[in-house]
Amino acid sequence: MDVISVIRTKRDKGELSPEQIDWVIDAYTRGVVADEQMSALAMAILLNGMNRDEIARWTAAMIASGERMDFSSLSRPTADKHSTGGVGDKITLPLAPLVAACGAAVPQLSGRGLGHTGGTLDKLESIPGWRALLSNEEMLHVLDTTGAVICAAGDGLAPADKKLYALRDVTGTVEAIPLIASSIMSKKIAEGTGSLVLDVKVGTGAFMKNIEDARELASTMVQLGTDSGVKTVALLTDMSTPLGLTAGNALEVRESVEVLAGGGPADVVELTIALAREMLTAAGIKDADPAKALADGSAMDVWRRMIQAQGGDPDATLPVAREQHVVTAPSSGVLTRLDAYDIGIAAWRLGAGRARKEDPVQAGAGIELHAKPGDTVTAGQPLLTLHTDTPEKFDYALKSLDAAWDIAPEGTSFTANPIVLDR
Ligand code: URA
Repeated sequence: MDVISVIRTKRDKGELSPEQIDWVIDAYTRGVVADEQMSALAMAILLNGMNRDEIARWTAAMIASGERMDFSSLSRPTADKHSTGGVGDKITLPLAPLVAACGAAVPQLSGRGLGHTGGTLDKLESIPGWRALLSNEEMLHVLDTTGAVICAAGDGLAPADKKLYALRDVTGTVEAIPLIASSIMSKKIAEGTGSLVLDVKVGTGAFMKNIEDARELASTMVQLGTDSGVKTVALLTDMSTPLGLTAGNALEVRESVEVLAGGGPADVVELTIALAREMLTAAGIKDADPAKALADGSAMDVWRRMIQAQGGDPDATLPVAREQHVVTAPSSGVLTRLDAYDIGIAAWRLGAGRARKEDPVQAGAGIELHAKPGDTVTAGQPLLTLHTDTPEKFDYALKSLDAAWDIAPEGTSFTANPIVLDR
């Protein structure tokens, strides 16, 4: 087999054979196929697509590039959730302990932020002492003793995806449905969860900007999961405006703890409970009440044990950025749009995200929202507070906010998008 013929097949809109797919994934993982050759193939896939058979084979080949985990020794059914990424999407933080408090085991392998979308591990690392890197044995121990674990995927899990995802990120080939679906599902199937709920984000702050593409991505992933014996469901959820009132690492941890304490923004609570219900149903747990587990403190108890089990101090003071800058409303009226992408870019520029994989992130950086679409605002009132340790970044961040909102005259009627758009 030679890589140039594989690239030419896809460049010329052909179907890759199972042998071609198995060979190219294996050869790329071993370093026989070079990055420039794989990026040409990834671009050909982005432009010309893959059919469902090709995607299934591609996913299986990525799973076969590494190890598979096994949670069959646990006494509880496993349930996992994966979000395709958004702005202010801190849902994993309250959700994992909540679902564990309701009786499932939640093995949550999570990622870091890249570009304008935040990453769960970056958020949790703002808790002093907390460790994202666990051995497989440690992961199983935390899961078994607390009911939930949130950690980085080990190097042995779908190594082909690790290499390919990093390559796609720097070659403009992330936004291809076959590549996103196979990337996510190879990790989730290799992880060994019994059930999986996919939170497919739709809107300016998401990879999928329109509902048709999101639906195609969701149905591709549900089919991959189902065909591999994982009970898989997907929700399409709104990402046109940030979730909750914060975007940034420690800011989002603080908001998640508020949710676990029975408070927090209504949209974060609604989505956390909706996803918890789906996960519990998929795991076959029928009589649990996630709203009650938030209200009675049992989800908070699991959170505290889970953070402590990974070296973190749940009572520690969270980092606060050295400098703040308040952005005020330029006019009075009804806030009808606050754009998720623009807010995500501004938070990233303030230091909450990284431009390259190896860059550090600032724990305290990010944006607090003082109003959400539908709220009435008065000229001069605070709209956003920007946080950073590097105030020279304020101007750069503010540039991305030039067209981030619309304020309509007072009395304008406004209907917010529902959080859950489809199932
Ligand atoms: N998340 C992943 O894990 N992979 C992608 O390709 C996109 C989002």
